[in-house]
Amino acid sequence: MLYTQAGIPAQSRNGVNRNFAKACFPAITLHNARFLNMYTGRDMINDVITPKFDEDGRPLRRIRSFVRRQGRLTKGQEVALASYWSVLGVEYQSAPLDLVTLFGRDMPVVLEIGFGMGASLVTMASLNPQKNFLGIEVHAPGVGACLSTANEVGVENLRVMRHDALEVLENMIPDNTLSMVQLFFPDPWHKARHNKRRIVQVPFVELVQRKLKPGGVFHMATDWEAYAEHMLTVMNSVDGYKNLSPGVDYVARPASRPVTKFEQRGQRLGHGVWDLMFERVK
Ligand SMILES: C[S@@+](CC[C@H](N)C(=O)[O-])C[C@H]1O[C@@H](n2cnc3c(N)ncnc32)[C@H](O)[C@@H]1O
Repeated sequence: MLYTQAGIPAQSRNGVNRNFAKACFPAITLHNARFLNMYTGRDMINDVITPKFDEDGRPLRRIRSFVRRQGRLTKGQEVALASYWSVLGVEYQSAPLDLVTLFGRDMPVVLEIGFGMGASLVTMASLNPQKNFLGIEVHAPGVGACLSTANEVGVENLRVMRHDALEVLENMIPDNTLSMVQLFFPDPWHKARHNKRRIVQVPFVELVQRKLKPGGVFHMATDWEAYAEHMLTVMNSVDGYKNLSPGVDYVARPASRPVTKFEQRGQRLGHGVWDLMFERVK
């Protein structure tokens, strides 16, 4: 029997086709083959979301903040997934995670949603060894890239997940446990008809609030002004958060936040950047 890092039997929900994975990647172990199902295409859908059904067995459709894309892995990302997932990867489970057991120590936990390729997350983890970092991303190449960089840098205080962060927050993260939640450059969903796909909505920020410890901080950044205004409106509508901006709007990028890959692209295009930091006060 295989076990996840959280000590849960690693029984696949999706029935991994190990023979298929091993045929594609003959050098890998069965444990890693299990992870590879997420990009062999067979079980792609169920790997980043958990299907939910109504009482008649019809799938319930939830509006997602991301598009399911298979993505092509580079050789380096493939190798990183096969080599380091078993060390730093955390399988999704619909049961609370023991964060102290996961990291092997009781230190403040920073959770990052949608880390992209993960370079800025790895930098933060390496610069803050006194904190634990849990990164969540749905895009397999990003997870592979993050694992690769984490290995190069040699960070030990980082764990990564590939799943819908909303489900992870709802089902795996106990209330009152996080010192910070980071959401850097979430997909802006520019078009009015797509605005409903923005991850920042009232139920989401209430969920984040419950997961933060009192005094914990929710840090967002975006390079899309209309999304920044939307974030501000949503945050101001929820009781129990205090805006850390002196002007009660945006803060300057703190030195603790490295410039992200997506941000660099925006800078090349002449985009502005808006950082928002809110403390949980209730
Ligand atoms: C625009 S990119 C920004 C990436 C990175 N933060 C940066 O600044 O370079 C947004 C990322 O969020 C991820 N994402 C969107 N919704 C997500 C969700 N519900 N759970 C996990 N990741 C998500 C996307 O896959 C994408 O990689």
